[in-house]
Amino acid sequence: MTKILDGKACAANMRSQLQAKIDAQLADGKRRPGLAVILVGEDPASAIYVRNKHRACEKAGIKSMQYLLPSDATESQLIDLIDTLNEDPEIDGMIIQLPLPAGMDVVKIQERVRSDKDVDGFCAEQAGLLFRNRPCLESCTPKGIISLLDANGIEIEGQHAVVVGRSDIVGKPLSILLLNRGATVSICHSKTPDLAAITRQADILCVATGKRHLISAEHIKPGAVVVDVGIHRDDSGKLAGDVNYEDVVDLCSWITPVPGGVGPMTIASLLENTWLAYCDHLGINEA
Ligand code: GUN
Repeated sequence: MTKILDGKACAANMRSQLQAKIDAQLADGKRRPGLAVILVGEDPASAIYVRNKHRACEKAGIKSMQYLLPSDATESQLIDLIDTLNEDPEIDGMIIQLPLPAGMDVVKIQERVRSDKDVDGFCAEQAGLLFRNRPCLESCTPKGIISLLDANGIEIEGQHAVVVGRSDIVGKPLSILLLNRGATVSICHSKTPDLAAITRQADILCVATGKRHLISAEHIKPGAVVVDVGIHRDDSGKLAGDVNYEDVVDLCSWITPVPGGVGPMTIASLLENTWLAYCDHLGINEA
C-alpha cells in the first residue's frame, strides 16, 4: 500500500511546536519574531502564496509585514526598501517573493538582503554555508522536503536520490542537502538524455521542473519515495504536479500529494528560518 507524505499535517505539527517556543519567549517579555514579505507586481499565484505565508505567520505568533510594490517599480525603489528593512531591528527575516517582473536583476536584489535576515537562504553566504555543511538558513522548499522525509522515518543515508530540476531555489540546494545527509545524488534536467533511465534508479525521486505531469510510471522504480514540488492548475481549475499522480501512485512506497505535500512544508520552513534568525538576533541559544 502506498503511503502519503502528508505535508499539511506535518507542517501543522511543526507550526504548533514553533508557536509554543515563541509563546515562551513572549511570556519572558521578549518581542515577537518579525518577517517582511515583499511582493512586486500583481502575479495572482504569488499573491496567494504571500497571503498563505502571512496567515501562517500570524497563527504561529510571528509578526508578518507585507510590502506591495507596483509591477512598474524600479530596481532602485526595491533596493531602497530592502535597505530600510535590513536596518529595522524588529525584522528578523525578509523575503522577496519570486518571480520578479522581467528585467530586474534577481541575483543583485537577493544579494542586497542582509545575510542574517535571508530566511530564503538564497544569498551567497547562506548558500556557501550549505555547501560547506555548516548550520545556515536553508532554502525553504528543500528544507521542508528533508523535514517531511525525516518526520516519516524515511532513510536518506545510503539511498540513491535523483533530483529532477536544477533551479537555485529547489534543485541545487536540495541536491546538496541530500548529499550532506549521505545520499548518492544524481541531478537531472531538461538537457538530460533518457531521463527515465536515471529516474528508474531512484530510491528517492524529487521532481522540481515546472513541467506538468513530466513524470509517469515509466520513470519510477517500484517502491520508490516520490516527492513532487510542482503545482499547476489546468483549464478546469484542478491542481496537478510535475508527477502524474494517478499513473505512478501504486508503484511508490511513499508519495507527496499535490496540493498538501511540499507546499505547506515550504511555509513551515520559512517560519522555522524566521525563528532561527530571531534567535540569532536576540542571542537565544536554539539548537
Ligand atoms: N516563489 C516560489 N517559491 C519561492 C520561495 O521559496 N521563495 C520566494 N521568495 N519566492 C518564491
